[in-house]
Amino acid sequence: MSLPMVQTPSANAGPLMLENIPALQAEVRELAAERGAVILAHNYQLPEIQDVADYVGDSLGLSQHAARSEQDLIVFCGVHFMAETASVLCPEKRVLIPDVDAGCSLADSITAEQLRGWKARHPGALVVMYVNTTAEVKAETDYCVTSSNAVAVVEHIYREHGPETEILFGPDMFLGAYVEKRTGRTMHVWDGECHVHAGIRPDDITAVRAAHPGADFLIHPECGCSTSVMEYVAAGDVAAEGVHMLSTGGMLRFAQAKKGSDGAVIVATETGMLYPLREAAPDVEFIAANERASCMYMKMITLPKLRDALLRDEFEVKVDPVLAERARVPIERMVAIS
Ligand code: 13P
Ligand code: SF4
Repeated sequence: MSLPMVQTPSANAGPLMLENIPALQAEVRELAAERGAVILAHNYQLPEIQDVADYVGDSLGLSQHAARSEQDLIVFCGVHFMAETASVLCPEKRVLIPDVDAGCSLADSITAEQLRGWKARHPGALVVMYVNTTAEVKAETDYCVTSSNAVAVVEHIYREHGPETEILFGPDMFLGAYVEKRTGRTMHVWDGECHVHAGIRPDDITAVRAAHPGADFLIHPECGCSTSVMEYVAAGDVAAEGVHMLSTGGMLRFAQAKKGSDGAVIVATETGMLYPLREAAPDVEFIAANERASCMYMKMITLPKLRDALLRDEFEVKVDPVLAERARVPIERMVAIS
């Protein structure tokens, strides 16, 4: 490796100083060019990571981008299941994650063994799993979904397999409840949750609504408040036109459409999302529904770790080829429907 290293803390050292960020970012870009790597980042990543990435997006956009990318090396700034999904979709590529411990409480809420047991209790049911799952769970799944396409995929299943189809939906119970409400049909829903989104409670919405009357609501369907907001709408307490249940990518498109206008928007999701929203529409006031809603796993990816990943070619996320072949089927079905 010929590039000189910026004298910044190594991955495990103390906090990154603001003044070190530009030099580190330049180093990351040079290393990426030298290695022929594409850097993908989720919308919840730290701002300095988002700024240095080739592509920033939601779970669906990241999967699609990984599948389309021409580079042989993907550095995934997100959590482990996302890097695994990229590896499943692109088995011939090398996928790196800057910190292998960047997990996901939602993906941890169902194991392949638990899913096999659930399937055994419901023979003939179709399995629909959120993309926030391990490759082992995906290998037991018929269709994957993300928050941006869950309703469309389930509607597709009812069209293709009949309206009485039995569906096992998991692992997120709030997303499951949202899909049931939108499709008007009942599924078997796993009782898993993301600790960050589940922590955004109806009380948060009540308080923030009182402080910002008239503001629009952007709500991620994983949130613990999503069911109650749907109930407020049904009861006429909140105007339906001001409430938008959206994936992080959908929130970004909402902000882009608002560019140049002002007003206030309450955002119920992980707080990393505020950065791309504010960049997209600087005149709009984006307010966190709960300021403590921060995902510690997403924030484990730092610039020094990203630099070190490129420099040391670590940490590779590789899925066993036989498992990957099975896990690819539900993801490709989802991508084809989206
Ligand atoms: P999306 O970006 O697909 O909306 O998912 C949010 C999330 O929680 C990812 O971990
Ligand atoms: Fe997982 Fe929740 Fe973090 Fe998303 S925000 S990565 S679902 S723990």
